[in-house]
Amino acid sequence: MNVKRIPIIIDTDPGIDDAVAIGVAVYHEALDVKLLTTVAGNVSVDKTTNNALKLVEFFGPDTPVAKGAGQPLCIPYEDASEIHGESGMDGYEFPAPKKNIHPEHAVNAIRETILTSEEKVTLVPIGPLTNIALFLALYPECKSRIERIVLMGGSASAGNHSPTAEYNILADPEAAKMVFASGLDITMVGLDVTNRATLTPDNVVEIRDLNETGKMLYSMFQHYRGGSLKTGLKMHDLCAIAYIVKPELFKTQKCFVDVETAGAYTAGTTIVDLMNRYQREPNATVCLDIDVEAFRAWAIECLAKAR
Ligand code: RIB
Ligand code: CA
Repeated sequence: MNVKRIPIIIDTDPGIDDAVAIGVAVYHEALDVKLLTTVAGNVSVDKTTNNALKLVEFFGPDTPVAKGAGQPLCIPYEDASEIHGESGMDGYEFPAPKKNIHPEHAVNAIRETILTSEEKVTLVPIGPLTNIALFLALYPECKSRIERIVLMGGSASAGNHSPTAEYNILADPEAAKMVFASGLDITMVGLDVTNRATLTPDNVVEIRDLNETGKMLYSMFQHYRGGSLKTGLKMHDLCAIAYIVKPELFKTQKCFVDVETAGAYTAGTTIVDLMNRYQREPNATVCLDIDVEAFRAWAIECLAKAR
């Protein structure tokens, strides 16, 4: 039976956990990855773009890659190379990519893809939200062609790049504020679930022995500092893909979410009003719990389908 595939655009800053998410997505039978767009995040946009090209060539499908914003909207750029290494994907020697990038800027490539898609498209940002904010500001008329936004970012509890802020939001708080205020159907897949969505040492060895993709990821996992090989590797970005194809893994709550942009210590913090303290209309579905064992089994099952 032909499963109707969900058309998605992944906005990404590869990034070792981004690589896992992209690998699972391009091979998943329920997803049609129509475009990858890159943004400055874990490493510079030149590096994230080069990494996205390497991943597309490694995984096979001829997914277009469009280069996006090299700077946040209003604040200085800050990378996360301490987590992913200088290249953003340390640990594996990919051949130099031969594929050319999409001729348009990411924002225009998103517009083109959305307008030519028969079905409404789901946006899946797994890096800072600069491209998405720019797209929504420049092309508000395209909102009607967007199914929903499922983003990895934020936290209803502690942060990871500051005591209260998660990296993707902290890297461009103004962009994140614009996205949460867009009125679109938004799901926030934040640290409340992604910090617990870890691959155990046994999972990592099992993945290594699966196939070429497993070998490649295993090599990069040795350099990934999102958690540790001993305590578990945090699959932040993979959770966004999991939410789209296996939402039953998650427990969620609809509530009002805004982003602090000005606090000396709190800029980049997602204000997740679970208590409805501010009596504001809910504007996001927030993931609060995850079935970790089922997530691990699902992740390995998906990666087994890769090359
Ligand atoms: O906080 C985790 C997020 O920051 C992930 O998207 C990871 O790739 C980094 O970008
Ligand atoms: Ca990322």
